[in-house]
Amino acid sequence: MVLDPSPFIDEGQPMSPAEAIDPFAPVQLGPITLKNRIIKAATFEGMSINNKMSDAIIDYHRAVADGGVAMTTLAYCAVSRDGQGAPNEIVVEEGAAGGLAQFAEAMHDAGAKASMQLGHAGPVGSVGGSNRLAPSKVFAPQAMKSTTPATVDDLRRIIGDHARSATIAADAGFDAVELHFGHGYLVSSFLSPKLNQRTDDWGGSLENRTRLAREVAGAVREAVGTRIAVTAKLNMSDGVDGGIWLDESITSARLLDDDGTLDAIELTGGSSFENPMYLFRGEVPVAEMAQTMPKAIGMAFRLTSKKFMKAYPFTEAFFLDYARQFRAAVDVPLILLGGINKLDTVHQAMSEGFEFVAMGRALLREPDLINQWIAGDTGASLCIHCNKCMPSIYAGTHCVLVREEERPGYNLWQTINPKASR
Ligand SMILES: Cc1cc2nc3c(=O)[nH]c(=O)nc-3n(C[C@H](O)[C@H](O)[C@H](O)COP(=O)(O)O)c2cc1C
Repeated sequence: MVLDPSPFIDEGQPMSPAEAIDPFAPVQLGPITLKNRIIKAATFEGMSINNKMSDAIIDYHRAVADGGVAMTTLAYCAVSRDGQGAPNEIVVEEGAAGGLAQFAEAMHDAGAKASMQLGHAGPVGSVGGSNRLAPSKVFAPQAMKSTTPATVDDLRRIIGDHARSATIAADAGFDAVELHFGHGYLVSSFLSPKLNQRTDDWGGSLENRTRLAREVAGAVREAVGTRIAVTAKLNMSDGVDGGIWLDESITSARLLDDDGTLDAIELTGGSSFENPMYLFRGEVPVAEMAQTMPKAIGMAFRLTSKKFMKAYPFTEAFFLDYARQFRAAVDVPLILLGGINKLDTVHQAMSEGFEFVAMGRALLREPDLINQWIAGDTGASLCIHCNKCMPSIYAGTHCVLVREEERPGYNLWQTINPKASR
């Protein structure tokens, strides 16, 4: 049982005020300069049209860009058709480039940098076009089908797809790409000793299981050089018995650090495939999730949700204890993520050596939270971690506590797509 380990090291020592880092001062992220240290984490918008950019997605991100973040992350974009995870995702192909360029320009006009999360959903894929590629054959509950073991040709093609997609992002004016190495998506499933049962060069030893992550990062870096920043979102723990945990994920991070291909690593955990609430903590929105499903499946989900959606209590900065282990082990800049709602937490992260913080739900609740903090109103976020934003991805992602007329992107999306379920 590995879900509740004791930290390896003592609590981090706060810096003295003289050396305290100002989170609102400009800072370098690889080849780019951010105006402050706060990044909007990827929160899937669910508002693409024909797998391309929409005005609704731009509106959604412009609110947080106007609201003071240094960089906003366009959420999960698939590097290929078969890499799609959920409906209404952007697929990064030449035909999508025009809309991506509009997105980057709009963020720049609002004074923020633009990052794009890139990945292949692998076993998490549950939509048409996905082939649920995985290291090995396992049952995929999202699709109610088995996964398909990836061939070496598949892996070579997908590594190339990441490099090609990153080039499209750079050409479109994006400032960064974030490679998705977490949450049970393809690269993360290769890291997992539970999901990766291969006996070839891509499975078995940790070095072999880390091969796909290293090759993707290497190919992307080679493709974009220093035109843009390259970061990765890496699982510290899958939150699953037999999945990856700190002892191994720290070694994977060291290997990536030694390769020198990444400008920063964002630390996450959990698995959309096997243990989704580990990513979020807080309430499980069972009724709202059931409503997004066909009636019979929704009823079955209500009865079995405790099994599939194990709940974890929310605590501020819930990944900090784990993230400290990485801070002590690697030199690469780190982005602390997970339950950051207070300015004090941002200061604490800086004092413990994290270069950046990423925030998701707090900025869905209040897109202008960073500007409030800069203006001296240092209250905590109003987000209550009810997680009802999660099932809202099918209606145009939004915080249900934001007044309907004030939801960024949502109203445009409802106009374009009136069938989107509320
Ligand atoms: C509605 C919603 C959609 C999300 N979509 C993504 C996604 O596309 N890619 C990803 O890596 N994480 C996604 N996440 C997870 C967030 O990036 C983040 O890891 C998580 O919400 C914890 O950070 P927070 O406590 O600041 O919200 C999503 C979270 C939410 C609430």
